[in-house]
Amino acid sequence: MSTNRKISFSPPDVGEAEIQEVTEALRSGWITTGPRTKLLERRLAAYIETGKNDVDCNFSENVERYSNRVVCLNSATAAEELNLRILGIGPGDEVIVPAYTYTATASAAIHCGATVRFVDIQRNGDPVTHMPEMDYDQLEGMISEKTKAIVVVDLGGIVCNYDRIFKIAESKMNLFNPLNLHTDALTDLGSRIQKTLGRIAIVADCAHSLGASRIFNGLKTYCGAIADFTSFSFHAVKNFTTAEGGASTWRKLTGIEDAEIYKMYQLLSLHGQNKDALSKTKLGVWEYDIIGPWYKCNMTDIMAAIGLRQLDRYPDLLKRRKVIIQKYNSVCDEFGIQHLEHHTSEMDSSNHLYLIRIPEIDEDERGILIEKFAEYGIATNVHYKPLPMLTAYKYICGGIEEYPNRYDYYHNLISLPLHTLLSDDDVEYICDSFRAIMKESRVG
Ligand SMILES: Cc1ncc(COP(=O)(O)O)c(C=O)c1O
Repeated sequence: MSTNRKISFSPPDVGEAEIQEVTEALRSGWITTGPRTKLLERRLAAYIETGKNDVDCNFSENVERYSNRVVCLNSATAAEELNLRILGIGPGDEVIVPAYTYTATASAAIHCGATVRFVDIQRNGDPVTHMPEMDYDQLEGMISEKTKAIVVVDLGGIVCNYDRIFKIAESKMNLFNPLNLHTDALTDLGSRIQKTLGRIAIVADCAHSLGASRIFNGLKTYCGAIADFTSFSFHAVKNFTTAEGGASTWRKLTGIEDAEIYKMYQLLSLHGQNKDALSKTKLGVWEYDIIGPWYKCNMTDIMAAIGLRQLDRYPDLLKRRKVIIQKYNSVCDEFGIQHLEHHTSEMDSSNHLYLIRIPEIDEDERGILIEKFAEYGIATNVHYKPLPMLTAYKYICGGIEEYPNRYDYYHNLISLPLHTLLSDDDVEYICDSFRAIMKESRVG
């Protein structure tokens, strides 16, 4: 089979509107963190319905009615790390992370000095969505007096069973030892947050799941408004992009003002400096203090310009992804191939990744199938190589033999291209090629 057709795996869908907005940002004279970043934060808060005041409002209007409960940063990795730092997590603490994730979920906790404990996944993933969710019984058994956070990953855009995860954290409240350190503004805030929560924090890695929702506590709730703290990724391959970029958000904490938490993210992401470039533009206002020797991971207005125009289109982008998923589902169903179930009566995914598991093949045969897709000009991928099989993690989480379900899920896994630059004709071509490859390989 030889073809001139080239189907990329996930190119960014950036149009004229984004280009225009970036040009305007460049011409405006304000290119670092400024008005466009602040507007994107408010609009994202409105979109995921967090920090909403007592009025009902549409996400594109009245954005000022949403409190500052979203902070835009330069990546999800930075957002994940700042979420843990704001929670006061550091050396001596344990953070539980699923063995099924990308390195950033674990490395953020490692950067904070915490010890990471890895949980295997359920055999074949969640019985309904097939998403590789954590083995919740194993998770429960791992919680100790040192556990400070469980990081949950909504892989592929599918929202985990947060009701179950919160219940587990609540059932272990007796083991929880809140931080009690007030040496600086950061430890003071972390101690108050831990005390207010009174249990292990639920921290969501929603790198893939902006716009996904789930019934939580009986109500449809968007990712970003479910976990105690959440991170999103706006990397170039994500559904919603600012080239690089990400955001943090959190749930209202009784007795702690959103403004105080927002301010701490500003400090942590800007050298600990108490005045950002925008506030220093006021005439005569030059003086500043450094509250802590912190980090530099703010979002620029050029990135936010892309995001503002992406957000206008985002609901339609999600719908388009869903149409493609339905086409792929019908091919998988013809051949009895397990695929992620992105929509259930409980949950609507953000349709980020399309993972399939080909029955009765080993890793080498999976490699041959990936080559066959390549012969048809179709780029595929594997999400992800298990952390215990990567050089850095072998020493941190032990060998892959300790995570049998994780390995089993990975060995026959392929991700198909899923993005909004695929035309109807491209999707038909992928489906026809997929069928032909499965027939040649006698699958099903
Ligand atoms: C599950 C997960 N978490 C975190 C990240 C890190 O995102 P970023 O590149 O924005 O730091 C990624 C990136 O692909 C990811 O897939």
